[in-house]
Amino acid sequence: MRSPRLSVKLLLVNTELTDSPKAAARFIRSGGIVAFPTETVYGLGADIFDPAAVAKIFEAKRRPADNPLIAHVGDLDQVEQLAREMPTSAARLIEVFFPGPLTVVLKKSGRVPAIATAGLNTIGIRMPGNKLANEFLRECATPVAAPSANISGRPSPTTWRAVFEDLDSRIDCILQGEPTDIGLESTVVDCTVDPPLVLRSGAVLLESLRKVVPGTAVYRANDTSVPRSPGMRHKHYAPRADVLLVEKLPDAYELENAAYIGLERPAGEVGSLLICGSIEDYARRVFAFFRDCDNEGIERIYCQTVPEAGLGVALMDRLRRAASG
Ligand code: TXA
Ligand code: MG
Repeated sequence: MRSPRLSVKLLLVNTELTDSPKAAARFIRSGGIVAFPTETVYGLGADIFDPAAVAKIFEAKRRPADNPLIAHVGDLDQVEQLAREMPTSAARLIEVFFPGPLTVVLKKSGRVPAIATAGLNTIGIRMPGNKLANEFLRECATPVAAPSANISGRPSPTTWRAVFEDLDSRIDCILQGEPTDIGLESTVVDCTVDPPLVLRSGAVLLESLRKVVPGTAVYRANDTSVPRSPGMRHKHYAPRADVLLVEKLPDAYELENAAYIGLERPAGEVGSLLICGSIEDYARRVFAFFRDCDNEGIERIYCQTVPEAGLGVALMDRLRRAASG
C-alpha cells in the first residue's frame, strides 16, 4: 500500500529565492507558480491562461476550489484579454486608480479558464502599484492569476519570509521584495452591477470611489439579489491564537501567553506588545504581528479597535474576521 507520507513528499519542490523579476517571470512562463510582492500583500501567481499552472496555486495554498482568483496585469492592454465588457464605471475607476490597491470585477472573456474564476462568469482584475510587481508582471507578458501567498485561512503575508514560512517547498519561486506598504488586501469593487458595489474594503476608500463613480455602494451580506464575493465566506486572516477586540485592555485579563496590538499603550502589562503610530502603521503591521504571536506560542491576542473612518474601515473588517476565525 502506498503510504500517505510518500505522496505528500512527491509534491515537494525546490523553492528558488530571487530578487530578480526576470528570473521569477521565467518560472511563470514555464508553467510554474511564483510568490511576488505587491503594495498590499504578497501574491502567489501563475499564467492565467494555463489551467494546469493555476491548479497548482489551489493545491499549494490548500485553497477551496470555489474561491476565485484575481488577475494581475502589468499593462492596461491585458485588460482586454480578460474582460468581455467595459462599463463606464469600470473604465473611470481603472483610469483613476490603476496602478494601485483596487480590484475591479468585470464580466470575463472566453479566454479565461473556469478554474481561475471558480466557475464564475466574472473576473477580478488589478494592476499593482509596486515597482517590483510591475517589473515582474511585464516580464511575465501574460496576466497572472494570484491570490494572497498564504496557506488558506492564515493571515496574508506581508513579507517574503512569511511566504517562505507557509509555502517553502510547495511553490517554484519567491520574488524577494520589501515588506508591503499597505499590509491589507486590495479594495474589491463589482462593476458588473449598477451602481458598483464594494465587496471588500481596502486602501482605496469608499469616499474616493464615490468621487469618481457617484453612487458606489457597499455590498451587504444579507442582500441576496446581487452576486457576492465568494472568498468572504471562507475563514480568513486568522492566527492560531484567539483574537479579542477591545477598546481598552479590560481590568481583568489573562496575562499568561497574551499579546496586545493597538494605537494606545494599555494600563496593564502584557508580555508581547505592539503600539502603532497610526491606523496606517497598524494596518501595515497587524498580519506580521499575528504570525509572530503564533510563532511565540501566544494564545490570546488583544486588538485595540479603531474608529471606522479612512483605512480604519478595512482594518476593522480584517480584525473582526480574525476575531471570528
Ligand atoms: O491585494 C490583493 O487583492 C491581493 C494581492 C496579492 O493582489 N490578493 C488577494 O487575493 O487578496 P485573495 O484571493 O486572497 O482575495 C481575493 C478576493 C476573495 O475574497 C475573492 O473571493 C474575491 O477577491 N474575488 C476574486 N474574484 C472575484 C470575482 N470574480 N467576483 C467576486 N469576488 C471575487
Ligand atoms: Mg487571501
